[in-house]
Formats: sequence, C-alpha cells, structure tokens
Amino acid sequence: MKTLIVCASRYGATMEIGRWIADRLPWKETEVVSVTEDPDPSGFELVFLGGGVYNEKVGKPIVQYAQKRLEALAGKYLAAFAVCLDTKGVYMKGRFFGGWLYLQPLLDALCDHPPLYAGVLSGEIIPKKLTEKDYNLLMHFYTRILKRDITEVPYRTLMDKRQVWDFTEKVLHRLEGHF
Ligand SMILES: Cc1cc2nc3c(=O)[nH]c(=O)nc-3n(C[C@H](O)[C@H](O)[C@H](O)COP(=O)(O)O)c2cc1C
Repeated sequence: MKTLIVCASRYGATMEIGRWIADRLPWKETEVVSVTEDPDPSGFELVFLGGGVYNEKVGKPIVQYAQKRLEALAGKYLAAFAVCLDTKGVYMKGRFFGGWLYLQPLLDALCDHPPLYAGVLSGEIIPKKLTEKDYNLLMHFYTRILKRDITEVPYRTLMDKRQVWDFTEKVLHRLEGHF
C-alpha cells in the first residue's frame, strides 16, 4: 500500500519515529518526508501525519499542512501522531494537560476526515541541539513552572521503537477493519 509519512520535526525525533514507522510497515512503497518539503499526498493510499509537540500543542507546520492539503487527503487512510515527553497527560487545578490533548489541533484541521488511528509517542530532549530561545523556554518551564532546582536543561530520551511499532501495528489492524 503506497504510504506517505509526513513529519514536522524541529530537532529530529519525529523524523526518526517516521523512519521507525516505515520499518514496521510490511510493504516497501513508503516515503518518509519532512513537512518542509510540502509533499503532495495524491497517489498515496495511506498517509501518516506527525509532529513534535511545542507548548502544549502538536507543532503548527503539520496542522497547516493538513489544512492546506485537506482536499488531497480526503478519501485516503490517515493516521496521526504527536511526539512529546508528556505522553500520558496530567490533571491539575481543574484542567487536563498533555497526552491526547496535544493532538487536538491536528484532529480539528482534519475535521471531516478523522484518522483511522492516532497516537501520542515518546520523544526526547538533546539540549545541545536546541536554539537559544527553545533552551531558555525549557529552563523557564523546568525552574519556574515545575520548580526544579536545576542549572541546565537535562538530557532526556524516552524514544521507544517498541512503542512506535505497537502504534504502527494498531494502524495496520484498523486497516484490516478491526478495532
Ligand atoms: C521549547 C520546547 C517546548 C516543548 N513543549 C513540550 C510540551 O508542551 N509538552 C511535551 O510533552 N513536550 C514538550 N517539548 C518536548 C518535545 O515535544 C520533544 O523534544 C520532541 O521530541 C520534539 O520532537 P521533534 O524533535 O521532532 O520536533 C518541548 C520541547 C521544547 C524544546
């Protein structure tokens, strides 16, 4: 089944996960493409849309891509995924944060064309790769919001190929008509 995996990735985690999804698909006709290349989804039967999460939302570039390409995406099998640290989410002061909520902007953009399946997958932070702005935003988050006593953004990887393959297997299952 001709498959396109479109990834909005600022630091590479979503792109790597896109390649892991491609590894698990049991056919070879799969392309993993950055959203910056604005790939044309016509001619593909299955399209994965994935993006890294920034400030409580899946990144804007993948949402804008879905909006722009909505007509071409209609009628295709779709799957959506977000890549982040807080995959489970948390309840705090009368509100839910994180987890599934991160995907909402992408689902909203796809409106009448809901994906077959969606997933919230674990990413990573490699501090030396971050722009100064992102580094400072994260320091602010850790020290002011989480009140952590740290002087540097910590290295953290939760990248998990088994989790990505489980997600991909669910998509395959749904394609076969199972729930
Ligand atoms: C400035 C900044 C903001 C972030 N905001 C969140 C967030 O709100 N929730 C979360 O779980 N992860 C957050 N992350 C972690 C990213 O989602 C994680 O690094 C992910 O792997 C990024 O994927 P990418 O490299 O493909 O863009 C943030 C990271 C940065 C640098």
